[in-house]
Amino acid sequence: MTSVVEKTQDIVSLIEKNKQKGLSLGFVPTMGALHAGHISLVNKSKKENDLTIVSIFVNPTQFNDKKDLDKYPRTLESDLKKLSISGVDVVFTPSIDEIYPNGVDKGTDIDLGGLDTYMEGAFRPGHFKGVAQVVKRLLDIVSPDNLYMGQKDFQQFTIIRYMLETLHIKTKLKVCPIKREPNGLAMSSRNERLSQQTREKAGLIFKTLKAIKKYQKIKTINELEQYGIKKISVPPFEPEYVNIVDGYKLKPIHKLDETDYAVACVAVWADGVRLLDNIILKSG
Ligand code: PAJ
Repeated sequence: MTSVVEKTQDIVSLIEKNKQKGLSLGFVPTMGALHAGHISLVNKSKKENDLTIVSIFVNPTQFNDKKDLDKYPRTLESDLKKLSISGVDVVFTPSIDEIYPNGVDKGTDIDLGGLDTYMEGAFRPGHFKGVAQVVKRLLDIVSPDNLYMGQKDFQQFTIIRYMLETLHIKTKLKVCPIKREPNGLAMSSRNERLSQQTREKAGLIFKTLKAIKKYQKIKTINELEQYGIKKISVPPFEPEYVNIVDGYKLKPIHKLDETDYAVACVAVWADGVRLLDNIILKSG
């Protein structure tokens, strides 16, 4: 049976009871509009923990564009069905007041070590402060043993890993592989907003990332990035960036042998939707 809990007080006491029994706790934070990518995180948590909690909360502080917040899909009923079928123990669906009892703008400013200045951070000012703020608040409430996040949002999990380390939070971060549609498009709640035609063509993004990986030894970093931009610049696709970065520091690299962990990250606009994807080129 899946319990749905809305109040912080109720989830805290439910978790407390289970912790007293010595049960391990896995936590999957989401913004809903769930797809197979989210469910893969749930399945991993279920395998590794006695109890799995999923939160559904569309966090206003991480949207730098009000229109994007308004357009964000909200599909609570079908989300709850999916989570129940997956055998999730508890779904936390707090209101804005539960998460931000002192008002939405009064969040603490968490140190992100400058990791929020690159890529998404450069194009979406304040986005990662909002993500860190809500994940910190949720971790304070749930205090899980394990936190499940997707590689799909590479910069996001890297920033959360940094936050866990610097704030000495004991929760372990588990990063799960990117789930893709049959044509290679990374699954995303925002894919629903693409036209059928665009969605079909969007396999181009992953195809280009795989080619970048293939050519990494024979082209310079600059050539690889330019190649990626050119390949993806096919209407309706407009790449915002193709960046090859150090996987820990998120800083652009100039040569592959500068780091033992290199990742190619892309953001692409199509039909007014921003699509993210990445591929690990090498990891130490
Ligand atoms: P949301 O976009 O709902 O994603 C929730 C989690 O699912 C994130 O960790 C994300 O990386 C993961 N995910 C999304 N698409 C995936 C895919 N195709 N394969 C595997 N995992 C995937 O990310 C957020 O919500 C929010 O920023 C949040 C962390 C909940 C804070 O508000």
